[in-house]
Amino acid sequence: MKLLITGGAGFIGANFIHYWLRQHPEDQIVNLDALTYAGNLENLKIVENNPNYSFVKGDICDRETVDQVMPTVDTVVHFAAESHVDRSIQDATPFVKTNVLGTQVLLESAMKNGMKRFHHISTDEVFGALPLNTENKFNETTPYDPRSPYSASKAGSDHLVRAYHTTYGLPITISNCSNNYGPYHFPEKLIPLAITNIIEGKKVPVYGDGQYVRDWLFVEDHCTAIDAILTKGQIGETYLVGGLTDDITNLDVIKKILAIMGQSENIIEFVKDRPGHDRRYAIDWTQTKEKLGWEPKYDFDTGLEKTIQWYKENESWWKDVKSGAYQEYYQSQYNQ
Ligand code: NAD
Ligand code: TYD
Repeated sequence: MKLLITGGAGFIGANFIHYWLRQHPEDQIVNLDALTYAGNLENLKIVENNPNYSFVKGDICDRETVDQVMPTVDTVVHFAAESHVDRSIQDATPFVKTNVLGTQVLLESAMKNGMKRFHHISTDEVFGALPLNTENKFNETTPYDPRSPYSASKAGSDHLVRAYHTTYGLPITISNCSNNYGPYHFPEKLIPLAITNIIEGKKVPVYGDGQYVRDWLFVEDHCTAIDAILTKGQIGETYLVGGLTDDITNLDVIKKILAIMGQSENIIEFVKDRPGHDRRYAIDWTQTKEKLGWEPKYDFDTGLEKTIQWYKENESWWKDVKSGAYQEYYQSQYNQ
């Protein structure tokens, strides 16, 4: 395969590139990434000299760049997005631009260039929120009900991807996954923020009452799911991808991290809640298991321990990210 990975310098995209080059060393990867605040080429240092890997700095909204790259590949795995709910609440504009318009630019170019597959990475957040203390989970038939600018823009992109399949016959697949965690996770998100704040001796902010529930997916399990979809998935299908966690509140996630790291709970700080905060997400991935034979491998304790270990061993990575020093580096590298 010749894969175009969009957003490969971000958290999941970078993990996926490492995974794919390990598992499919004969394949070629082109990584198209605009290097926004969330994109970091340090995430790909290990593979930068691999002859089967190349990097193109570019925006998925830029038709010219996309049209130049697309003819060199046969498969698209589309990760590039603005991905942080809190930022979408501050300013929805880049979310609509990248997540909706950028996806449409890619779809158009994928059509023109006869892609064998366009795989779109989406989120469980498009399904809205579930109540606490119920057995309800999201599945492939759950109606869309996005509630934040981020999830609304992802829902828009999902609809476009399906429309290009129905209307023009573009061979697409979609996966809606839950909250990923693991190495290279940008420390604005809950788990890496908590781990790095604990190491730095700072408070760990918990929104509202902390009684919010997410379904936690170790990023390597997400990579194996995408592999199964690309190699065994049915064109036009949607697959739900989730983790092995039973319902666990954000407060208990933090307490678990503090326990693993041997720190006191008195550094927890309750802060103002997020507006429109979705109460609970949970994924029913049984259909994905039945159709593709995929299931997650990492339970939450194992995944968290591996993640904490990675952050302990890679302090310079997250210290640079947190200080913004790497952004200055890219400015001088590319804008000279
Ligand atoms: P991320 O924010 O860590 O990385 C996004 C990457 O996309 C960055 O490298 C950034 O530079 C790049 N990018 C942003 N705008 C771009 C543009 N206009 N053109 C080219 N590149 C651009 O995100 P992530 O956490 O790795 O998420 C990847 C995908 O997975 C996203 O589509 C997200 O919606 C989806 N997803 C993420 C999670 C999660 O828990 N992180 C859960 C469900 C779904
Ligand atoms: P986040 O990692 O931002 O992912 P998402 O909003 O996509 O689920 O947040 C995960 C949960 O943690 C969410 O319920 C919001 C909450 N949260 C906090 O309590 N404190 C924080 O500092 C952050 C970033 C998130």
